[in-house]
Amino acid sequence: MYTYEELKNFVDHCPRCQLARTRNRAVMGKGNLNSPILFIAEAPGNSEDRDGIPFTGPSGTVFDDLLGSIGLNRQDIYLTNIVKCHPPNNRDPLPQEQEACIAYLKYETLLIRPKIIVCLGRIAAQRIIRPDYRITREHGTFLYRKNTWLTAVYHPSAILRDPAKLEETKADFRKIREKWETL
Ligand code: URA
Ligand code: SF4
Repeated sequence: MYTYEELKNFVDHCPRCQLARTRNRAVMGKGNLNSPILFIAEAPGNSEDRDGIPFTGPSGTVFDDLLGSIGLNRQDIYLTNIVKCHPPNNRDPLPQEQEACIAYLKYETLLIRPKIIVCLGRIAAQRIIRPDYRITREHGTFLYRKNTWLTAVYHPSAILRDPAKLEETKADFRKIREKWETL
């Protein structure tokens, strides 16, 4: 097993895929290592590539508002991404990049031992829940696997593109809060 600091150090210097050549800074997950809840997004964007911290850009503001709407903040949860380095031009991370990076997420999950995993968006849901996961149809539903509740919600950037998704996503967050209270 590795400590958080050891993992962060590996990620910060990781050469395991081609994103290492174009990143400015790798972005290790961040938050409360004792949290029952792990949020998994897709990949760092431009702001995160500059700051080295998940969700510091416009998507982060949406995410913080959603957390706030159920009485939580970043110190209550742990937040990470499927790939830790920014894909050029915000393209989707390629399957081989996800494959190269997934070991870090596995170690983060072992460290945190979450009771609830929330996928933010399609890319995370298809990697973590099921390859054919349909975010539009299935967001906000829960399944139980290996002692963990799994769910997915729209990615904050999808809400920025289509604000009509905000209310549905707030409802999904209320379900997450309810699940937390049953633990
Ligand atoms: N989008 C993501 O999926 N993750 C981040 O950290 C920032 C934007
Ligand atoms: Fe390493 Fe992941 Fe960054 Fe690729 S995306 S270089 S595997 S940390």
